[in-house]
Amino acid sequence: MKVMVVGGGGREHAIIKKIKENPKVTEVFCLPGNGGIAADAVCVPIQAKDLDGITEFALKEKIDYAIVAPDDPLVLGCVDRLVKHNIPCFGPLKKAAIIEGSKAFSKNLMKKYKIPTAAYEIFSDMQEALDYLDTAPIPTVIKADGLALGKGVIIAQTREEAKNAVRSMMEEKVFGASGDQIVIEEFLEGPEVTVLSFTDGKTVVPMISSMDHKRAGDNDEGLNTGGMGTIAPNPYYTPEIAEICMEKIFLPTIKAMNAEGRIFKGCLYFGLMLTENGPKVIEYNCRFGDPETQVVLPLLESDLFEIMQAVTEGRLSECEVKFSDKACCCVVAASEGYPVAYEKGFPLTVDPSVADSTYIAGAAIKDGQLVTNGGRVLGVTATADTLKEAVDAAYEKLGKVHFDNMYYRHDIGAKALKATEV
Ligand code: AMP
Ligand code: GLY
Repeated sequence: MKVMVVGGGGREHAIIKKIKENPKVTEVFCLPGNGGIAADAVCVPIQAKDLDGITEFALKEKIDYAIVAPDDPLVLGCVDRLVKHNIPCFGPLKKAAIIEGSKAFSKNLMKKYKIPTAAYEIFSDMQEALDYLDTAPIPTVIKADGLALGKGVIIAQTREEAKNAVRSMMEEKVFGASGDQIVIEEFLEGPEVTVLSFTDGKTVVPMISSMDHKRAGDNDEGLNTGGMGTIAPNPYYTPEIAEICMEKIFLPTIKAMNAEGRIFKGCLYFGLMLTENGPKVIEYNCRFGDPETQVVLPLLESDLFEIMQAVTEGRLSECEVKFSDKACCCVVAASEGYPVAYEKGFPLTVDPSVADSTYIAGAAIKDGQLVTNGGRVLGVTATADTLKEAVDAAYEKLGKVHFDNMYYRHDIGAKALKATEV
């Protein structure tokens, strides 16, 4: 079968490596992919937001199955376009992708269906938001309604900081139209857990839990990034908590989307915070997480491509979704200066002994040589019997990857390892 994957980061590389384990998958195209992904798929220079280009390519190449991985094309309606031409897809339709595309939508959904989340107010008038902040509890959290490259969330420690965040979103429009509406919400505390899930709108099957490391620096210092590393499983996510999440969050969310006429099919990402008052939803994403996917898929023992097709065809309940009881760690290597300003174009070498477990996020091929081409350049993943071994092995493997200007966190997994000690 000819499969097309839309996207071009480490997540897409991990998805591609995994679906290729299925012998039915004979050809894989990645739009646009990157220089590293080119070792595993035919990369086609069509951008993920170019819905016309994607559709035209899929028809011309007679693609049998499409996987739309990033948020932008999903929220723009890429799956709607492909499905209209009878191309089966993994990923939600536009009307369901809104669960990530609009925070106002997802907060109102949770309120209406009593799904636990932080208390909040929605504003489309800047003065009302500023007035509200005169008396709101501090710290407080300001979120742009729409997509903002993962940067649309400000945790404000003072009223002044909160008001500045509101002005930057609503007056200066730093996130464009995504800041036309904002959500101001209660600051929650507790360990964070990511749970990706497969769902066909009838059945929801949580994948193994994971933990992202979003801050740029060690000890969770520095700016928020797309993610500097991940581990799975997340030790805070006990079987008891998993049961509560299924009953109070996962199933109610699927039912709520159905009741709204917005059946969600694909991977639904639950970003959770385990608070003193129980697990609460921090965010929903309408897709696989990056770099969570890079630690979750290596632990999947069942056939990813079969599961994806079952999701599309609404027969997920018949499908086996089994995870190994090992642990996995992914350390991201970025360009010095990420997430603000960084140089690109440095030669990148990956020792063949670690190529299978290296997921390339930002690389290009220049004069036949792989060179860095992004902030996050790659993630190196290791699987082992214990989390400690997986973390050590991931850092050891990182020593087999080279580029000038390499920057990475030294403490991926440290918090999780500490949690396993108590
Ligand atoms: P998001 O883009 O929604 O994942 O938010 C980015 C990060 O901000 C999350 O991973 C949390 O660490 C933090 N965050 C978001 N909402 C809250 C909240 N209500 N309380 C505390 N931290 C939050
Ligand atoms: N790692 C966070 C995300 O994919 O949104």
